[in-house]
Amino acid sequence: MKKLLVALLSVGALLSGSVLAELDNPGGTGGLESLRGATELEDTRPADSFKKYPREQVLDSSFVYQPPLIPHNIRGYEVSLNANKCLSCHSWKNAKEMGATKISVTHYVNREDAVLSDVSPRRYFCLQCHVPQANAKPLIKNNFEAVDSLK
Ligand code: HEC
Ligand code: HEC
Repeated sequence: MKKLLVALLSVGALLSGSVLAELDNPGGTGGLESLRGATELEDTRPADSFKKYPREQVLDSSFVYQPPLIPHNIRGYEVSLNANKCLSCHSWKNAKEMGATKISVTHYVNREDAVLSDVSPRRYFCLQCHVPQANAKPLIKNNFEAVDSLK
């Protein structure tokens, strides 16, 4: 009974707290401008439209040892403890049959520089380094330029 009372009281406290917060802070964020535009906290803004993922490699590398961009859609591709969808096409075993590029030997080297017989754990989560190329405009301007040897 005592516990129930405490629970009821704290729910009450929470409720009156949120009512007060609303009075203190009308309009949520107050319409602060961000890279996504100004939205009030309590509004759900419409989702952005899907990006296009060109199928051929249209974006070249801009520095040596850049992980190549992914020239295909990866929506729904699972990379987890149980499965690695990327390797079902890109592993040395499957690449030929799937017509995909093999992962390179560097993906077999562990951090002690030993060459393993399977993908190195530090290369398992492909999307840490590889991202799909998309028709996305940079959110903010930048002056990055490719190294001379790749221009
Ligand atoms: C159904 C097979 C398939 C799956 C699954 C797949 N790929 Fe690919 N990938 C390809 C093929 C085929 C190519 C060759 C280019 C093309 O035709 O799109 C390619 C190209 C690439 C390239 C460019 C390689 C180069 O030579 O520059 C990268 C990087 C890549 N994929 C990464 C990934 C990653 C990361 C995943 C998982 C999120 C993944 N792929 C899942 C088939 C696949
Ligand atoms: C730690 C960063 C990193 C991770 C994680 C990683 N890669 Fe790479 N990958 C690279 C870099 C850097 C290159 C280019 C240089 C090289 O070949 O090592 C590359 C090259 C590739 C290539 C092109 C190989 C070639 O011969 O042109 C493919 C395909 C690829 N990676 C697929 C994958 C897949 C699939 C995974 C996940 C199983 C993965 N990578 C995980 C960094 C990474």
